Amino acid sequence: MDLRVAFAGLTLKNPLLTASGTFGYGREAAEIYDLGILGGVMVKGVSREPWPGNPPARVARAPGGMLNAIGLQNPGLKHFVEVDLPFLRRYQTAVVVNVVGHDQQGFVDVVQGVTGQEGVAAIELNISCPNVADGLLFSQDPASARRLVQAARAATGLPLIVKISPNVTDPVALGQACKEAGADALSAINTLLGMAIDTARRRPVLGNRTGGLSGPAVKPIGLRIVYDLAAQVGLPVIGMGGIETGLDALEYIMAGARAVAVGTAVFRDPYAPPRIVRELGEELQSHGFENATQAWAAANPAAREAAS
Ligand SMILES: Cc1cc2nc3c(=O)[nH]c(=O)nc-3n(C[C@H](O)[C@H](O)[C@H](O)COP(=O)(O)O)c2cc1C
Repeated sequence: MDLRVAFAGLTLKNPLLTASGTFGYGREAAEIYDLGILGGVMVKGVSREPWPGNPPARVARAPGGMLNAIGLQNPGLKHFVEVDLPFLRRYQTAVVVNVVGHDQQGFVDVVQGVTGQEGVAAIELNISCPNVADGLLFSQDPASARRLVQAARAATGLPLIVKISPNVTDPVALGQACKEAGADALSAINTLLGMAIDTARRRPVLGNRTGGLSGPAVKPIGLRIVYDLAAQVGLPVIGMGGIETGLDALEYIMAGARAVAVGTAVFRDPYAPPRIVRELGEELQSHGFENATQAWAAANPAAREAAS
């Protein structure tokens, strides 16, 4: 089975990536399998300076998934470029650098800082970050998302992927604004804002009060948003949200995703990414496809039209 896919200036050996924040910088997984099995690694969000993250508790159980409020903790750009990127370069897999910032300049500095570094295949902007200028998430205001993407576009020639938040009224309008600002591709979905209450202690479970819901519970929402983005925006989409099996991945691909990412599933099964690569090949074959590209948007004719 030919699993190769190509879109937005990226060529992946297979359509399976690991979702940002659930795979660190690949070190733990590399102890148990060859990262070269993966189509790509979307690294934990990188900020200009090191970020401390949120107070505990940072994760909580939720039906069909989990809540997390890690707070985008990471060791910062310098550490990424000097330590994590050289480690990832040893593997034959596409490295997608997820970028976070407190303000537009913070994003731009990281985009510039990784552009030109050997072994960076693409940049993914996590626009679900609060903008200190107005306290709103960049994703919650299409005008500020547009300015941010324009500034990032001006700072790099690498493929630019913008991660779409489901916590907005109209993800398609957000995707459209990102396209007009110069994005090459979209990824969807980020986590859904939620919370859990500790009834014995009479307070929220998470130290941050709220957190992001991920895992199988969010898959129907992810599929709906990927389907709509592919059909109505027309940019290539990397689909994610609740993928646990090769069949889940195929659902996303048929909905219009060019590639998919696996996140929360790795906490239950560390071998999930290589397993899903294998299962996806089997599912494509049993569904009568000769390669991964044939399955793309098989259930979403409007996406095929939008891309042509
Ligand atoms: C513990 C945890 C940390 C995450 N950190 C990030 C992050 O740093 N940047 C980002 O864009 N998304 C982050 N995400 C969101 C995931 O990349 C993904 O979009 C989301 O979890 C949906 O996929 P899943 O249901 O397969 O986990 C994080 C998710 C989890 C569970």
